[in-house]
Amino acid sequence: MSGVTSPAVEAGRIIKVNHAGEHGAVNIYAGQIATARLRARELLPQLTEFKAHEERHRSIFAKELTRRGLPRCRSYWLCGAGGYVLGFVTGLMGARSIALATVAVERVVLRHLQQQLSQIGIADPEAISSIVGEEQLHHDQSAVCLHRAGVLDRAIGSVISAATESVIWIGMRA
Ligand SMILES: [Fe+2]
Ligand SMILES: [Fe+2]
Repeated sequence: MSGVTSPAVEAGRIIKVNHAGEHGAVNIYAGQIATARLRARELLPQLTEFKAHEERHRSIFAKELTRRGLPRCRSYWLCGAGGYVLGFVTGLMGARSIALATVAVERVVLRHLQQQLSQIGIADPEAISSIVGEEQLHHDQSAVCLHRAGVLDRAIGSVISAATESVIWIGMRA
């Protein structure tokens, strides 16, 4: 791939990856909701609320793709399937694993969104800021459940963060 890309092309790529990522996030919560019914019923209202946020984020980026006449990212379905599996498995493992996955994913997402805000040139920057606000809320509310993360928790969190980074990396180059 050429090392020189125009800002518009780069912004389009970012929006595609964000759109696919939000689809992944919707599916993480969908998977967690499916299994939290068995293991962590008390989290269902929160997971349902977070999933609704992610659906709104996905539609913001979908609109932006339409406005720019761009197709979905090639990683869209992979993100959805991978997200669902991650959500389903962590939901089965219970409330602590659910929180662990959310913190690990949102940590990466927040870092990327903040870096991107300056370069996207999106139609509605206020909408993006509200996305950052909600991702921060997901992170913070979940982090409360993890105030004493052990070595194993930290190791699993690092693996999930690294997997999230890899999906973004692949998406930006697909
Ligand atoms: Fe999101
Ligand atoms: Fe989120």
